This record gives sequence, C-alpha cells and structure tokens, in this order.
Amino acid sequence: MSSAAILRALEEQRPSGPAGVTLVGVGPGDPELLTLAAVRAIAAAAVVAFPVARLEAEGMAARIAAPWIRPEQRRLPLVFPMVQEAEPRRSAWHAAAAALAGQVASGHRVVLLCEGDSSLYASCSYALIALTERHPSVPVAVIPGISAASAAAAAASSNGMPWPLALQQDALLVRPTPETAAELEALLDQAAASGTVLALLKLGHRWSWVQPHLEARGLLEQSLFAQRVGWPDQLVSRASAVSPAEQPYFSLLLIRQGWPAVLP
Ligand SMILES: C[S@@+](CC[C@H](N)C(=O)[O-])C[C@H]1O[C@@H](n2cnc3c(N)ncnc32)[C@H](O)[C@@H]1O
Repeated sequence: MSSAAILRALEEQRPSGPAGVTLVGVGPGDPELLTLAAVRAIAAAAVVAFPVARLEAEGMAARIAAPWIRPEQRRLPLVFPMVQEAEPRRSAWHAAAAALAGQVASGHRVVLLCEGDSSLYASCSYALIALTERHPSVPVAVIPGISAASAAAAAASSNGMPWPLALQQDALLVRPTPETAAELEALLDQAAASGTVLALLKLGHRWSWVQPHLEARGLLEQSLFAQRVGWPDQLVSRASAVSPAEQPYFSLLLIRQGWPAVLP
C-alpha cells in the first residue's frame, strides 16, 4: 500500500483526542521504518513540530516523516542549536517547550518528531524534560522509534553479514565515540574483557583517527561501519572497506570483539 493510501485509511479513523504533545521517534531515515503508532500520531496532529539547527535549516526528522505529513498540517520548526555553551542550549530548550505548551493551550494536538528513537540521544528529550519541569499540566506521550544502531545491524544482516547486536550473555553499550585515542583504547580493553558489543555514535570526523587504532588491534574486519542508514545513499559495510577519511555526522560503528561459544 502506498503512503498516500495508508494516510487516507488513517484519516478515516483519525482519533479526535485531547490536546497534548506526543514525541514521535521517526527512525533513522527510511519513511517505511516509522511504526504504525508514529504514523497514526502524526496523522492525528494539527501541528507537526521538529528540531532544526537553525530556523532556515531543514530538519532531518521532518524529512524522514515527510511522506506522512499532510500539506494542511501546521509545521513548527524548533531551534535546537548545535553549540557547546550551556546557556543558548538551555534557553532554546525552554523556548521549544514554551512553543509546544502554547500550541496545546490553543487546543491543538502536537507531535514533536525525533530522529531515530525518541529516548536515545534525542533532541526531543530536552523538550520533554523542559515541558515536565515548566509546563507540568501539558499531557505528554512518547512513541519509540527504530534506532540507527538497530537499523544498521539489520541492514548488515540483510546484506549477507549477520550482525546480531547482542546474543546470550553479550552486553551492549551504546555511547558516543570517545574523544581521545586513550579513551578509545581503554574502552576497547574493557569491552573485550566484559563481552561487550560497542555501538559508537557520533563517529563522523573521529573516524580518521579511530580507524588506525582498530587496524592496529586487528578489529576492522569485525567492525561494522554504517553511514546514513535508511537513506538512499546508505553505506553499510565492514569497517575494513572504509578509508580513514573523515565521515559525515550520520555515521556509526558497531564493534564486536568476540562471539558466544555456542552458535549454529
Ligand atoms: C544525536 S544521535 C541520535 C540517535 C538517534 N536518536 C537514534 O536513536 O539512533 C546522532 C548519532 O546517531 C547516529 N545516527 C543517527 N541516524 C543515523 C543514520 N541514519 N545512519 C547512521 N548513523 C546515524 C550517528 O552516529 C549520529 O552521529
């Protein structure tokens, strides 16, 4: 069924619920990877809010969900600046929460779109915390989404490289890529000793120095590099096939240093 046909079907049964804010995880890139609950929540909203780095910038989450947004729905970009300083970020989060609360006070159902999962390193989590703190009467719901790490593992497994994220007694650590080589080395040692699979996000420009460390440890063959998963230009491959040049922000690494003893 096409997205238009699904939207028509959803519109017929569009719920007329109370005003409130729903945080919606929209998955890593492919509009087919939104859950039915996500598509339904978007269909039921009068206002579709989404994070942007600057007002004129295109929001990644809005691009992912575009096939599910109707032209008559109001679009509300919310600026979440990508800066290190605390104050501009804090005031942006509170401004976003105030804008969402304002829409709810006007009687609207609002969705706030979040790239990937809505609880995993998600901009919308700051809006959630700010809303709960300063606008506690606003009803808030959260719909999870497919994370980039899960989608990367599935893409590899679909491509002849079985990549279960975790099996049996494996631990799984999802975290940002370390900032220094020493931190990375310590992390790899701990992960090897504890049977932990690593999912390193925010890889991007760090790949240029991470790659030689993995090479020196003989880990490139067992590591999976994934870039822009779910987008038409998706790249998912063994890390050994990726040159040590800087990579885009939307890239990650899965590192497995061992497998359980009992396997098919
Ligand atoms: C702020 S985190 C957001 C994580 C997201 N909420 C999730 O559940 O996957 C951004 C990082 O997630 C990873 N990421 C998000 N989407 C991705 C994609 N489509 N392909 C590869 N990596 C992605 C990248 O490592 C990126 O630097």
